[in-house]
Amino acid sequence: MSLDKIATQLVNAGRSKKTGHGAVNPVIQRASSIVFDSVAEKKQATKNRSNGELFYGRRGTQTHFSLQQAMTELEGGAGCYLYPCGAAAVANSILAFVEAGDHLLMTAAAYEPTQDLCNISLKSLNVATTFYDPLIGEKIGGLIQTNTKVVFLESPSSITMEVQDIPAMVKAIRAVNPEIIIMIDNTWAAGVLFKALEHDIDISIQAGTKYIIGHSDNMLGTAVANPRCWDRLRERSYLMGQTVDADTAYMAARGLRTLGVRLKQHQQSSITVAQWLAKQPQVERVNHPALESCKGHEFYLRDFKGCNGLFSFILKEKLTEQQLADYLDNFQHFSMAYSWGGFESLILANQPEQINAIRPNNPVDFSGTLVRVHIGLENVDDLIEDLQKGFQRIG
Ligand SMILES: Cc1ncc(COP(=O)(O)O)c(C=O)c1O
Repeated sequence: MSLDKIATQLVNAGRSKKTGHGAVNPVIQRASSIVFDSVAEKKQATKNRSNGELFYGRRGTQTHFSLQQAMTELEGGAGCYLYPCGAAAVANSILAFVEAGDHLLMTAAAYEPTQDLCNISLKSLNVATTFYDPLIGEKIGGLIQTNTKVVFLESPSSITMEVQDIPAMVKAIRAVNPEIIIMIDNTWAAGVLFKALEHDIDISIQAGTKYIIGHSDNMLGTAVANPRCWDRLRERSYLMGQTVDADTAYMAARGLRTLGVRLKQHQQSSITVAQWLAKQPQVERVNHPALESCKGHEFYLRDFKGCNGLFSFILKEKLTEQQLADYLDNFQHFSMAYSWGGFESLILANQPEQINAIRPNNPVDFSGTLVRVHIGLENVDDLIEDLQKGFQRIG
């Protein structure tokens, strides 16, 4: 299904007369206590508390159920748990499935706090992590130990953007041990560009903070699980007290309705900017999954339905501290900020040694400064002009 077809799904997913009380959008139902009229009603609610029946605020209200239904439909799972941010979705998904003495395989190019979770929190719980090369492909089978419980993917990689050969990896993992739980940080795909569960991945995790919320004004995490993982993920996350307020759930559902058109524009503008960057004499390589120069580009073409606004490029030179400040401090349209997926353009830079420090046993193959951009919804010519001026500042 192309991005165009997904747009129809995005407009309709999770909406119903029930959750909207007749209105187009779901009602914002704020609640802790839910009132029962009778013992029988309370009993019924208790029985169905995890099946979309009102029970207690922490289990969600009609607003949450509508968003959960939407995400479940979009990602094709058995259910969706909502978390207060993407990092909580990552941590609770892993914690739901590991125990002391277990082993986890994690991509060496994962989002940094995900790696820290392994190195600090999981380590202290006696869960060991092996970090794998994101381009390992089917050889991942050789890293599986008898106690490997979870394999965690993230594709494209954070910062360096390698696209993983997920079908080959999943096949190799299942061939060694079909019981292993395979999860993916699928944030880059915004829940629609890469259909993780169709690739036999058990849990698709997203920082909804990015493209779903889409306006850089709130935080959310989602995890959509297949039937074999849904009950355990839901109940373990609930025990950890994971919950989201109704207003945030409403904002996320609202974000979904325009996600299709936003993604189309992010895609078009980011490819235009990436192609322009590839022609600039200061640029060594562009890590945009839709460009041949990105590692794993062939897997992007095969497995993804499109791209978004986030990518990186490597400069031929390693900028000095002064050059970095001259470059980054003076953009007109690119703000310097963490996160991505909002309507605005962003820019950050990393030196190769900074990236190596967060890539266990997997050093990068470049020596210039890496620049990561998020291409927003501004006019693309304005963005290119801004980037052009940036190059002029660093000679
Ligand atoms: C790939 C990826 N996963 C997870 C997260 C964490 O999301 P949040 O900031 O909502 O906790 C981020 C945030 O930048 C991210 O880029």
